[in-house]
Amino acid sequence: MQNKSSEFGDADRRIARIAKALSHPARVRILRLLAECGRCFTGTVVNELPLSQATVSQHLRELREAGLIRGEVEGPATCYCLDENALRAVSAEFGALFSGVCCSEQQAGTDHSRLKETVRARYGGIATGSGSCCGGPEVGAGAAPDEAFSMVTELYTPIKGYEPDADLGLGCGLPTRYAHLQAGETVIDLGSGAGNDAFVAAAEVGAEGRVIGIDMTPEMVERARELAARRGATNIQFVLGEIENMPIEDEVADCILSNCVLNLVPNKAAAFRESFRVLKPGGRFAVSDIVIEGDLPPQLRHSAEMYVGCVAGAMQREAYLSVIRAAGFVDIRVAAESTIHLPDSVLSSALNPDEIRSFRDSGARIVSVTVNASRPGLRPKHPGAP
Ligand SMILES: C[S@@+](CC[C@H](N)C(=O)[O-])C[C@H]1O[C@@H](n2cnc3c(N)ncnc32)[C@H](O)[C@@H]1O
Repeated sequence: MQNKSSEFGDADRRIARIAKALSHPARVRILRLLAECGRCFTGTVVNELPLSQATVSQHLRELREAGLIRGEVEGPATCYCLDENALRAVSAEFGALFSGVCCSEQQAGTDHSRLKETVRARYGGIATGSGSCCGGPEVGAGAAPDEAFSMVTELYTPIKGYEPDADLGLGCGLPTRYAHLQAGETVIDLGSGAGNDAFVAAAEVGAEGRVIGIDMTPEMVERARELAARRGATNIQFVLGEIENMPIEDEVADCILSNCVLNLVPNKAAAFRESFRVLKPGGRFAVSDIVIEGDLPPQLRHSAEMYVGCVAGAMQREAYLSVIRAAGFVDIRVAAESTIHLPDSVLSSALNPDEIRSFRDSGARIVSVTVNASRPGLRPKHPGAP
């Protein structure tokens, strides 16, 4: 039979390759052993397995060739240890495979709830000043101390309504610039955090307009409400809730905003369906988010996640746009985009020089995009219009 594996995507071939490396219980046992002992010489592994030295060496070779373990010659013997970066990437890839093909709704629901708990804990910490994430200055400083980093390439500070205490450095775009808000409009900000975009929107829609920020993290909502009270803002409210199931009536909003949030939402189809529901016919959105183009090597995906925070849940660009289309939106266009440049310190912590070259040649990239789209229907006149 002809070997046609080259006809399949890189990610699928990698999973198949790892599955093959794990296809003998002796190799699974070796991984467990290395996890327990940290570093083991061949002799120790041989003592632990009911197999000859030659057979154990063969199994070690297969694990090494699959990139799951590393071996270093120390004098006359070889010392083995797990390749933890590679294993983390494999774990993420298998996790994504099984959650993607999982047929039990209940199981998918449980996985999604677990993911959301992690997200909530992370952003709860950020709201109260004890965590770091996505594009924040802390991430740049923590993961790659030599290179300052922000995913927002457009400046917020000169913008009317800007509230410095709401700016936790968590965005990846400037959606209000592409929303063309008008006085009197009703706006919903999905995943409003401390209100960074909501306060700008509130200044644009004015006293007759209304902004509703929705976020599932209580500490974020609390921080945003305190800031709104401090500013004496009367046209803005912050609601605790989930984007996939918004506590908001149908056809309320003229415009939806969102900034670097939907990549964190496990069920993006539900998020866009809900967005469609709460928009008035003819309403529109401006959503900034992170997408992937091409095939990021899994070990890089893991370290990019450490760096930009929002990579793990990011979709391929075309798949992302398809989900928006499937929710019923029209006039979908990418209004702004910028490549997130991973510094050498991040690339070299995950890839060897050959892999860095082939990654650069592949054209794969992490991109911050701002997408515009509309719900079909006549555009409603905003209250201030003649
Ligand atoms: C990266 S922060 C962005 C915050 C804000 N948009 C900004 O630019 O400052 C993501 C926010 O989305 C919220 N979030 C994530 N998933 C959510 C969901 N499914 N429903 C509601 N909020 C969510 C988090 O609690 C967090 O506050």
